[in-house]
Amino acid sequence: MIMKLLVPVVALIALVVSSVQAFLPDGGNGNTHVTITRHAVMAKIHEVCEAVAESEGRQFSPEGSSPEEVLRACLGTATGEVSGAKFSTALNQIYMQNGFVDRDFMSSAPHHFNNEAFTEGRNLIIQGTIAIKANVRTDNLQSARETLGRVCHTLQDFYSHSNWVELGNKSPYANLIRPDLNIENIAGVAMPTCSDCASGTCPNQLLPAILKGKFLTSGYMGLTNLTNLEVRGDIHTVGKCSHGGETDLSSKQNPRGGISKDEPLSYNADLHNKAVNLASEATLELLEDIHGAIGNKDYLRLMGIARSAVLAFVIDTTGSMSNDIAEAKRVAFNIIDSKKGTQDEPSEYILVPFNDPDFGPLIRTTNPDVMKSEISKLTAVGGGDIPEMCLSGLQLALTGAPSSSQIYVFTDAPPKDTYLNKTIIALIRSTTSTVTSLMTTFSRRRRSLNARPEFQVYYDMALASGGQAIEVPKSSISQATKIIVDTSTSALVTILQRSRDPGRVESFSFLLDRSVSNTIIYITGSSLTFNLRSPTGASQSNTVANGPLGTIQKVGNLQRIQLNETEMGLWFIDMTTSQSYTIKVIGQSAITFIYNFVEEFKGPHPGYAVIDGRLLAGSPAKLLLTLTGEKGPEALEVHEVALVEVSGVKVSNETVEKMAGGDFLVTVKDVPEGEFVVLLKGKDKTFSSLFQRQTTTMMSQSKVTVKAKADDSMLPGEEFRLNFTVKTNGPSGAYTICARNDKKISMTHPPTLSLVSGGSAQGTVSLTPPADTVSGTDVTLTIEAEGPGGSDSNYAVLRLSVLSKVTDLTPPKCEIVDVQGTCNSSSCSSSNWELSVNITDRNGTGIERISIQQGSGNLTQKKVEDGVMGLYEASCCSTSVTLSAVDKVGNVGRCSYTMKSSAGSCLMSLPLWASLLLYGFLRESFTL
Ligand SMILES: *[C@@H]1O[C@H](CO)[C@@H](O)[C@H](O)[C@H]1NC(C)=O
Ligand SMILES: *[C@@H]1O[C@H](CO)[C@@H](O)[C@H](O)[C@H]1NC(C)=O
Ligand SMILES: *[C@@H]1O[C@H](CO)[C@@H](O)[C@H](O)[C@H]1NC(C)=O
Ligand SMILES: *[C@@H]1O[C@H](CO)[C@@H](O)[C@H](O)[C@H]1NC(C)=O
Ligand SMILES: *[C@@H]1O[C@H](CO)[C@@H](O)[C@H](O)[C@H]1NC(C)=O
Ligand SMILES: *[C@@H]1O[C@H](CO)[C@@H](O)[C@H](O)[C@H]1NC(C)=O
Repeated sequence: MIMKLLVPVVALIALVVSSVQAFLPDGGNGNTHVTITRHAVMAKIHEVCEAVAESEGRQFSPEGSSPEEVLRACLGTATGEVSGAKFSTALNQIYMQNGFVDRDFMSSAPHHFNNEAFTEGRNLIIQGTIAIKANVRTDNLQSARETLGRVCHTLQDFYSHSNWVELGNKSPYANLIRPDLNIENIAGVAMPTCSDCASGTCPNQLLPAILKGKFLTSGYMGLTNLTNLEVRGDIHTVGKCSHGGETDLSSKQNPRGGISKDEPLSYNADLHNKAVNLASEATLELLEDIHGAIGNKDYLRLMGIARSAVLAFVIDTTGSMSNDIAEAKRVAFNIIDSKKGTQDEPSEYILVPFNDPDFGPLIRTTNPDVMKSEISKLTAVGGGDIPEMCLSGLQLALTGAPSSSQIYVFTDAPPKDTYLNKTIIALIRSTTSTVTSLMTTFSRRRRSLNARPEFQVYYDMALASGGQAIEVPKSSISQATKIIVDTSTSALVTILQRSRDPGRVESFSFLLDRSVSNTIIYITGSSLTFNLRSPTGASQSNTVANGPLGTIQKVGNLQRIQLNETEMGLWFIDMTTSQSYTIKVIGQSAITFIYNFVEEFKGPHPGYAVIDGRLLAGSPAKLLLTLTGEKGPEALEVHEVALVEVSGVKVSNETVEKMAGGDFLVTVKDVPEGEFVVLLKGKDKTFSSLFQRQTTTMMSQSKVTVKAKADDSMLPGEEFRLNFTVKTNGPSGAYTICARNDKKISMTHPPTLSLVSGGSAQGTVSLTPPADTVSGTDVTLTIEAEGPGGSDSNYAVLRLSVLSKVTDLTPPKCEIVDVQGTCNSSSCSSSNWELSVNITDRNGTGIERISIQQGSGNLTQKKVEDGVMGLYEASCCSTSVTLSAVDKVGNVGRCSYTMKSSAGSCLMSLPLWASLLLYGFLRESFTL
């Protein structure tokens, strides 16, 4: 078992031999921070999946090494289609933030351990790790992943930028991740550390006194053309090592050269490889620390290993809604009960009630029984079908749900809070979640769609997110909720989505491949006429409810066509109507892709960073694509990627470049001016089957950009100031600024910024989270800027965490006090062994949780005066155990033990003193 775990790490050592950059196109040397992180993350996932499988009495044996195969094996035997999309999205959230550090904190020495900023660099790691643990505790997994990405970057840079490797160290520096220990023996400020290197390529520039005294130092980085003395800040720091490389201007001045091990060059390849290996091991140790603090289940969720389906309801609870609430409850219960034990069982439930003037709170749970009880508690009170706080409720759902969730809104009234419409669209784009609204009407007052302009905002949200706006009489709502069952599946893919207003006679084609099942077509609009044609030429018109191709159900403005069978090949829908309509074709398949619009950045470590607003008009669009399929991305080919106007006809073609790690970089020169989606065509090589997929979230361009970076957490009760920059290529004038957060925290910001065309201006948002905010709470902040006369606008979306100051830095202590039993390897199932531990957290915040991290035995705990006594009992078929004890702020103490099993049948039990000796040895190698 342990050997298996080691495999990916060993593979990594052979693989990672290149420069430490954020993202490099595949040119033979695509090894980066991301590859180091990816290998450590996957190795740790293997180990935790194995431990979980063992505890559930099953095997963890992925068919291959692709993320999809690992995911399927880790989730176990539940039936149904598994999609790797959510898993890849979660991992990308970690990797992308890792790359950001090179852009957003380019000249910050602590983020890179430059300029001997050891104490500050270590603080970033310690504080970041505390934030990750607090975020997981409050279930804010995306924030936790983003912080993890940044912390990994800084941790990894230590090995490349310091002289830890040159000092001959063979293992990572544990003190970097131990809050209770400090960095020791840093070279003094006036202590010269390097000799001059005229060639700039010297294998070892460190002064003998530094090596002999084991002093820790790091390279100084000069990004601007200052003299050596100015760069180093102080006359006494003459003689400090340079970072080195083209962008380090200080490396041209005495002492010339540099000690960075970012890239393998002829003179430092050995040091570079050692640095990469230590960075990988250190990353694994950090992951292990987090794993210990949060336990197996949450660790896997943090890594995106969970069933994909999430059920998110935003429900109007005013007086006229009792039917609708009853239906929402029926559907939720139906999904929970009918999908239990399958891949389609939701992994998370979200419920947000709204009313007038109240909305919320957001209820988020992984427990279906809690969802059932919460939804049962909803009652319709007050009001009538008057405007309510729908968008406020939806804002909570969008920020609280995992990205790419399906969110369903139940209402019978227009929103009162339409001022949030831009914020909602920004959140939809940033989360790529899909919003479907079920708007019910009393039949007696039913009017045509166009007669209810106050409902337009629901249509706008549906269009922007790729969802539906469904208007149905209250009496037929149960037919409309089929859409919720259809789309609550783990492997939902969109094959086609288009919108026309006004409608026109047009034929839409879509390709169904062999991996697609349960194909459903939705057409919304009123008085529509259309004809469906299959690849073999059979056809069915909208007037035939049960035809050769499928079953058509009509309810309100929605027509749902369920195909009898998913015949492979090119299908057609011929629309013959001038009414406005939308068409959407969905199915279930493991083949899909995830994407991010990115921009290139320069600097010492150039790369690509995700754009979180609309794209900048006038520049080419760049996209990073990750493909996922049953057998991993290697089994898939990309043929064509296009940006397609959902409401128009414009399609633009692009160049596709393969990147390290199986991702693709797509560059589009000629971006459509309207709102567009991404269409991808490719081939499943295993079956030579062509496929087509499209994204659902609409994107567009803007001449305005809003940029802000989250580099710190907020303290409860203290003012937090965040700078943002607005730039424009549009008209000069006053740009209206609007900032909103999802936690009702009061904020101040300038109402407008004055900009000239081609220029930029800076503003500050200040917010003060209440003093009683729970540590780990995450606040989603949107900052919008709108040009003069509402001409053009853009936004930035940031996740900020509120974190209390942590003073308990000492992990609980776990001591093994007794071992009992004898194990015989030839008949393991007939014997048992047990281990007693004594766990204390003196002067700390107290023990919160003790759990079995690895091992399939049982743990019983007893509270005693100054701690907890634990008794672990296991079968001799499971001879090793790791217990972890976590205190209230996430410090982790561990005990590990391996029971020796004797080969013969008549060996004595290992005496306790010998076990303890063995334990002492094991502990050496297990404790961080
Ligand atoms: C820095 O200064 C050197 C020498 O004075 C000059 O050659 C070089 O062009 C300068 N570089 C930049 C980026 O200004
Ligand atoms: C969105 O909000 C703006 C500003 O409050 C308003 O002018 C506009 O009409 C709203 N749009 C919709 C569709 O409600
Ligand atoms: C498709 O299903 C409908 C309704 O079940 C049925 O009437 C029709 O014969 C089916 N067609 C085929 C080709 O199976
Ligand atoms: C885009 O590229 C594909 C493949 O190179 C080609 O088949 C297609 O015709 C192109 N489309 C446009 C609109 O140029
Ligand atoms: C924000 O901007 C102000 C004014 O330009 C500056 O003094 C301050 O240091 C900035 N704060 C941060 C965190 O960058
Ligand atoms: C458990 O450990 C604590 C602290 O080391 C010690 O005071 C206590 O006596 C121990 N209890 C037992 C039962 O060993």
